[in-house]
Order: sequence, then C-alpha cells, then structure tokens
Amino acid sequence: MTALFDFDERCRGGAKAVLVSVSFSDADDTARVAELKMLVLSSGAEAVGLLTCSRTAPDPKYFIGSGKTEELKALVESCQGETVIFNHELSPSQERNLESFLGCRVITRTALILDIFAARARTREGKLQVELAQLGYLETRLVRGWTHLERQRGGFGLRGGPGETQLEYDRRLLKERVNILRKELREVEKQREQNGRARSRRGIPVVSLVGYTNSGKSTLFNTLTDAGVYAADQLFATLDPTLRTVSIPRVGKTVFADTVGFIRDLPHNLVAAFKATLREARESDLALMVIDSADGDMDDMIAAVEEVMEDIGAGSVPVLKVFNKIDRIPGISPHIEHDSAGLPRSVSISAKTGAGVDLLLRAISDRLGHDRVSLELTLPPDAGALRQRLFAMGAIESESYDDSGKACLRITHSRTELARLSARFGGALERYVTAPASFSFRREVWED
Ligand code: GTP
Repeated sequence: MTALFDFDERCRGGAKAVLVSVSFSDADDTARVAELKMLVLSSGAEAVGLLTCSRTAPDPKYFIGSGKTEELKALVESCQGETVIFNHELSPSQERNLESFLGCRVITRTALILDIFAARARTREGKLQVELAQLGYLETRLVRGWTHLERQRGGFGLRGGPGETQLEYDRRLLKERVNILRKELREVEKQREQNGRARSRRGIPVVSLVGYTNSGKSTLFNTLTDAGVYAADQLFATLDPTLRTVSIPRVGKTVFADTVGFIRDLPHNLVAAFKATLREARESDLALMVIDSADGDMDDMIAAVEEVMEDIGAGSVPVLKVFNKIDRIPGISPHIEHDSAGLPRSVSISAKTGAGVDLLLRAISDRLGHDRVSLELTLPPDAGALRQRLFAMGAIESESYDDSGKACLRITHSRTELARLSARFGGALERYVTAPASFSFRREVWED
C-alpha cells in the first residue's frame, strides 16, 4: 500500500471505536447494528460506544444533526474513543465537518469494509483490487483541508513540480498510482481468463460457493474439498477465490470455487472492483448459495446475495441453496428439497459437523449430472477422428488398449453434446458403446 494515501491509518486510527447508526423512518435496524459490531470486531478494533437515533432524512452538515453531534462528542470523550464509525455513507464534507467538530477520525462502513478487505487480501489480484477500490474512495475525498495528506507531503517533496499546489500534487500521484494498478490488474486478469478458458475447453464443470459473509462458505469448502482454506468467525475471512478440484459421482472432475462473502448495501463501485474475483461465480455451472439458517435475518441476507449476483452478471447461474448451520437449530435434521421437475432445490446441512454433506454431494451430482452420462467405448483403429473429438471435448476419463489394438475408453460428458457428436459421426458413438449394454441416446432420453 502506498504510504502517501495511508488508508489503514485512517481506518485503524484507534482501536477504540464509537459506532453511530441511524434508523430512517423508524425501521428496525437491530440486525444492521449487530452486523456493524461484527465488522468492527473483524477489523481488529474494539467497539467502546454506540449512538443510535432515528431521523427522516440525513442532516446535510453533520448527517445526524447538531444536537446529536454534541451528544456524540460527549460519548467519544467519555469512552475515550479514537475513531467514530458511521453505519452509513457520508459525503466527504459531512465527514470533514464531523472530524473537525469531534476532533477524531470519522469513517464510514464502506471504509471499514475496505480496511477489512485490505487486511484479508492474499493474492496479488486481491491486493490490487483492494488498493484500487481504496484509491477510488479517497479520490472523492481529496479536497483542500484533508490534513493527513499534507502532513505526509514531505517524504515525496522532490517529486512535486515547481509551483504545484498540494492538492494538484496529490491528485497527480493518485492518478499515476491508479494507472499503474489498472495495468497490473489487467495482466493478472488476462492470466486468469486464460486459465478459465482452458478449463472450460476441457469441459470441467465449475461449482462456486457464494453467500453472505460468515455464512460458512469456507467451512463447507473445506469439508467438501478437504482443502484447509482459512475459516474464522470473522467477516470476509476469504477475500480471494480459492479453487480445488473434486471428483463428483456421475459428473467426474469438478472445480469448486470459494468466493468473497457478500454483504448488503455494498456500494456498487466496490462490487465492480471485485468483479474479476467474482468471475468464478459468474461463469460457474452451479452456484451453491450458502445460507446461515440459524440467523434470524436469513431472508434479508438471501435477498442481498441475490442482488449482488445480479450486479455481477451472475443472475442466470443455476442456484442450489445450502441451508447451513442446522446443528444450531433444534429439531432439524439434514434433508433435500426438490423442485417440481424433481431436481434438488435446497439442502439443509451442517458444514461444521459434516451432517448432510453426503446429501449435498448427491444433490450436486443430480444438478450437474442430470445431463451427464458415463459410458465405456471400444473404438476400432479407424475411429481416430471420433477419439480425437472426444479428447478435445475433455470427455475421456481413462484409456487403455486391448490385444487387438482397439482403444477402450471410459468417458463422462454432457449427454446432449455426446448425442450431437454421435449424430455427426452417423451414430458411430452409440455403436461403439460396450457399457451400459444396448445403450441408445434415444432410449436414454425416453427413460428420463
Ligand atoms: P467469509 O469469509 O466472511 O465470507 O465467511 P464464510 O462464509 O467463508 O464463513 P466461514 O466458513 O469462515 O464460517 C464462519 C463461522 O461460522 C466460523 O466460525 C465457522 O466455524 C462457523 N460455521 C460454519 N459452518 C458452520 C456450521 O455448520 N455450524 C456452526 N455451528 N458453525 C458453522
């Protein structure tokens, strides 16, 4: 992170934080306040005070009005708070007015989330995305009187042009840094795109784990893949997508992708910043929407996840809901629910105890595998072109040769695509199937 725009310093200015949450039109904001406390905890700070109030609209100068701002100042002093965190977006001028009146740092929920993202990012791409998002946030706040920037000017003094004002200098540096980051990010994204394309060319299905932060995605990912991905009772413990390959019955090799946790009211530019990381969710064949079913706020969280899925262009990805943490709900045992077509729609499990994970694997297999078929073929030496096509489709799982030089293949692939291929080769593929016995694509379709 560049020292000039020391974002962390603003967010972590003090470990002791006073929280402010305003309820508009008397809406119940208990869950939102609880979530803010959790965010503060995840950032490593300590919530020492809370001011709540209700308003019909924000006050243009102080957001909470001058009376409440006086009250806030007294609270900050009595709790020895070092940072005030608003559960809302503040305009740069509201932020500045509050800072100068309260005499301490004032940050917003977005800045706090960015701070947590910055601490959690592990891959190069994640780090670049967070820094870019932070600079985007700071850009709107680069105005005269932003004293911490002026204070740090000295170290970079030689690089400023003659006669250049502090503000122009800061803007220029910020722009330069943004350009460098964008360029680096483009490179990393290109690489990722190539890997993704190679995967889809090989016909390997991708299952992404999406869900509200803290719903248990990483725990489930670990249970499913035994991968040992970091799982902690913190928000956004996972920032970067993690990929693992698992073999699923009737589907074969399947890539599982753990993704960043979603959260409600995520500013749109922040979602945009993580679009590349969320590519796995957008381009997956199935999204497991992990839901903390022990949380009373579950429906709101599902709505928030669906909204972000739309935002990142993943609205049409097939979803299998995973109601997690059932070990915390008395009287619920693992089960699957089906839709009217008989396909699994949701599975209730505990990722932590492992209860129901076998049902989940079966449901994934049913959802991905209903169009997939596993066949054994024996190809004569002159069927080289067909073998090559099967190879290019990524359908061949194993291959050996018998005494007469015929290729014995085991293949798993989309039934629709294989039927199409067989038709193109005059029904050859069907003729070469040795197991299941007397196989026909037509009969397979009828049997459905
Ligand atoms: P983010 O990285 O914030 O998106 O979180 P996540 O969705 O990956 O959640 P994670 O797997 O880190 O789990 C969050 C917390 O929930 C951890 O303390 C887990 O131990 C706990 N947890 C996950 N699954 C279960 C479960 O089935 N039952 C119970 N009781 N706790 C669970």
